[in-house]
Amino acid sequence: MTPKSATARACANVALVKYWGKRDPELNLPATGSISLTLAELTATATVARAEAGEPRFRQDGRVVEGTPARRMEEFLDLVATRFGEDPLSVRVVADFPVAAGLASSAAIFAATAAAGAAACGGRIDLVDLSALARRGSGSAARSVFGGFVEWSRGDRDDGADSVATPLQGVGEWDVAMAVAVVNEGKKDVGSRDAMEHVARTSPLYPGWLAAQEDDLSAMRVAIARRDLERAGTIAEENCLRMHATAIAARPPVLYWAPPTLEVIALVRRMRGEGLRGWFTMDAGPQVKVLCAGADLDAVASRLAEIPGVSRVIRARPGPGVAILEGPCPWT
Ligand code: PMV
Repeated sequence: MTPKSATARACANVALVKYWGKRDPELNLPATGSISLTLAELTATATVARAEAGEPRFRQDGRVVEGTPARRMEEFLDLVATRFGEDPLSVRVVADFPVAAGLASSAAIFAATAAAGAAACGGRIDLVDLSALARRGSGSAARSVFGGFVEWSRGDRDDGADSVATPLQGVGEWDVAMAVAVVNEGKKDVGSRDAMEHVARTSPLYPGWLAAQEDDLSAMRVAIARRDLERAGTIAEENCLRMHATAIAARPPVLYWAPPTLEVIALVRRMRGEGLRGWFTMDAGPQVKVLCAGADLDAVASRLAEIPGVSRVIRARPGPGVAILEGPCPWT
């Protein structure tokens, strides 16, 4: 059957217990589990259609994407087409946030592309299985299939069938938020894919990172179930700093922080002392995401915006899982 076009939207997610290292790079199988929060304000919309001969297969925000990102997306589109027995596919992505700057853009993009691809092929797939498919594009995309708090399991199987995401707590069940301080909208130096491979290979701290993950995962599950923000925030900060410590200790070191990153960290700690509670986390980039109570989001965001190196602050709330905007829904 000739695929029709279909459109899906997915939100980015920010990990509170990070994915950092793989047990299988080919299948994007993580060395440990991870837990994240999906964010409504950071979305990517993907429209997938049959590829026209000679036409570029990946456009983003109206521009043709080239080089490694294009190759990666083409491989992913081929995987989706093969799964549903279809001709080669192409995708047009529109993202509403700075791409490749450590704002988890790839998670939203690959989750939306997986869903739109399945729909364009007229395929059937349930959401857990869709998370395994999205994972092949970018590990963290597995988590963007679901809304709210999400856990992505390490899994034990060699084929990765059990390395899937599942929802922990839906949107609306806990009024939390994230203020995202954007300190540099340029492209990052080392992508998370290369960095985690380099860190796993060269950082003497990496074994310690792996050893500590299980405790953080179980403590975070309990904190979320109890809606204990202080506990969840504390674990998230520690987990993030431990991840960055492995990167700083790699040879050569990978250092994602810019001066305003540290200024935001210092401010968040100072605010806590004053009674305005927030907890920071950073991914493979200099941006700082601050977890806080929904009621404190405006106050926290205003304070972060006062730092001169912060170019803008995105006020984000828990967001939904992937949705089909146009085309047949593969999972209902
Ligand atoms: O999905 P990737 O390959 O972009 O890796 C994401 C890695 C981190 O953002 C640093 C952590 C995480 O769990 O999202």
